[in-house]
Amino acid sequence: MVKELMKKFVEVFGEGGTILPFFAPGRVNLIGEHTDYNGGHVFPCALTIGTYGVIRKREDRKIRFYSMNFDKYGIMESSLDGLAYKKEDNWTNYPKGVIWAFKEHGYEITQGFDFACVGTIPNSSGLSSSASLEVLMSKMLIDVYGFTDVDMIKASLYSQYAENKFIGVNCGIMDQFAIAMGKKDCAIYLDTATLTYEYAPVQLKDEKIVIMNTNKKRGLGDSKYNERRQECETALEEIQRIKNIQTLGELTEEEFEQVKGAIQDPVRMKRAKHAVYENQRTVKAVEALKQNNLKLFGELMNASHISLRDDYEVTGKELDTLVESAWKQEGVIGARMTGAGFGGCAVSIVKADQVARFIENVGKEYEEKIGYQADFYVVEIGSGPVQLAE
Ligand code: GLA
Repeated sequence: MVKELMKKFVEVFGEGGTILPFFAPGRVNLIGEHTDYNGGHVFPCALTIGTYGVIRKREDRKIRFYSMNFDKYGIMESSLDGLAYKKEDNWTNYPKGVIWAFKEHGYEITQGFDFACVGTIPNSSGLSSSASLEVLMSKMLIDVYGFTDVDMIKASLYSQYAENKFIGVNCGIMDQFAIAMGKKDCAIYLDTATLTYEYAPVQLKDEKIVIMNTNKKRGLGDSKYNERRQECETALEEIQRIKNIQTLGELTEEEFEQVKGAIQDPVRMKRAKHAVYENQRTVKAVEALKQNNLKLFGELMNASHISLRDDYEVTGKELDTLVESAWKQEGVIGARMTGAGFGGCAVSIVKADQVARFIENVGKEYEEKIGYQADFYVVEIGSGPVQLAE
């Protein structure tokens, strides 16, 4: 993949100079959905699929981008002067946003670059192709421009800053953190209120992680993501009138039941309930995994989906069809939607010897009910971003 990309780079931008290759993973969240902007816990892991990128510094202030996934756009050119979000700049707004975010934090680059990339994460599938691109750019800036005092946690925060302030999507920290801090064969148990984290080994001996892609495209910008976030914020303000808390993530289920009457609207009450219960489920799920109780972990995954379906209402018929079909199959430990929802992917843990049949059965039922095919990926948990050997 890297060789091919290097070749393409030379073809597109010409020979010469030092061309440096990098990789940043995608991520899948095992449990803890829509909790990261509510001060709760998440439990994602980095994947071995992700974004490959190569970069070469320029003498002037031009920044030129090329993606093998968006070949049709050819070379897209911007400048370090007047960095701003422009709709027509399409995918290059992500790396541009990161350069801008670094600058906002005092790390300004004065020399431009040529950049080419290719992603092995399906775009808009909810496996964080955009966060992968952002963290890739961050890693390149750190290594190529010598911003060595920016550690990977800061890099994840700057990447999120780019997404929030440059792209305009109010995402939490989960995706960028999971990608920047990924560790092979481990999921990351992150408390989003404090950014304290712990690596939890995911030792699946007889099971596989199977990702199911609805192939229903979604973009966070045009989804109801920001609306959900707003609903939770309003619910929090209502609770704060009677209880001194900073985030919904501070509440146990019992405490929520005591104060929920303060929420004036039944829909908002459901949203807040999900945020609180999902956070508690995540805490329990990590505990279950530590005790090798995969069965309980799977049950909590299933309960997470039900809550996202009924209380948070971010699943939709494509994700529900995949997940509900998955639950019926033999050898399934657990299945749930993953990421923002409204399309994108679901994640399941399946007995290795049942995977082929699982994919066949779920795939068939999905196509019958939805009218087009789903895709399935048996994935491995990978590490964070790296500079690759030239
Ligand atoms: C998207 C956002 C994350 C998180 C999830 C939902 O992936 O980027 O910050 O909120 O949705 O859990």
